[in-house]
Amino acid sequence: MNKTKRPIVIAGNWKMNLDRVQAKKLIEDLKTGLSSPVLLTIIVCPPFTSLETAHQAVQGSQIVIGAQNMDYRDSGAFTGEISPIMLTELKVKYVVIGHSERRQYFGETNTTVNSKIKAALAHNLIPIVCVGETLDERENKLTDAVVSRQVVAATQGLTSSELKKMIFAYEPVWAIGTGKVCEAKEANRVIKIIRNTISNSHNEPGLGDSIPILYGGSVNAKNISEQLAESDIDGSLVGGASLKADEFLSMIEQAQNISKLSAASH
Ligand code: PGA
Repeated sequence: MNKTKRPIVIAGNWKMNLDRVQAKKLIEDLKTGLSSPVLLTIIVCPPFTSLETAHQAVQGSQIVIGAQNMDYRDSGAFTGEISPIMLTELKVKYVVIGHSERRQYFGETNTTVNSKIKAALAHNLIPIVCVGETLDERENKLTDAVVSRQVVAATQGLTSSELKKMIFAYEPVWAIGTGKVCEAKEANRVIKIIRNTISNSHNEPGLGDSIPILYGGSVNAKNISEQLAESDIDGSLVGGASLKADEFLSMIEQAQNISKLSAASH
């Protein structure tokens, strides 16, 4: 399956930024600047406290809401956690799972990532699963092994129809928030490895080719087109640059142009 058959996804991960007033303003600015029809999937992922405000603000547009994390249990004595049921009640559609900041600072492991993916799917939330190597791992030529291991562990026990509902993001840890974007050809190479790993570990040739896989890590309005021009990069998971309406809109517009071009050439 080639890229034109997979949707282009541009997702903004706001991280721990923007209160409700700021969230509403950013979404209103995005709505004003979006040219229709929107040919992409556009997702914004505000902090939990702004999810409801964001859901109200996106009404009448094609922007959809994602959360940045969730617990895998439905309810109980887990102080400070948010369950999938609480997210679906707020009309959240997507949830980022296994972001490297969660793995690095909050003890998220491949096992919890796997449990969270299963819980998300059970509640009809679309998981955006992040994988990626650290600088140390890259320098020790462990990138392919680390990323494959993360993908195998994350997808353990999932059926192919479940996998086809998911989104992955290749996010090298050294590229996140550093301004050091991964070279597009290299990101494309690793994303192909992710596709092959999914197909091989589930014994289904072509399975990995049917799943949208994004690149994330210092994507901005200057480098997004180069990323999206690659055959296997289906979109971007954007942190810092998604907090500025003008820049995020420019990225969406560039993605729209690429999606029109690739549709016309097939
Ligand atoms: P960045 O973050 O675009 O600020 O590098 C990306 C991410 O963490 O998803």
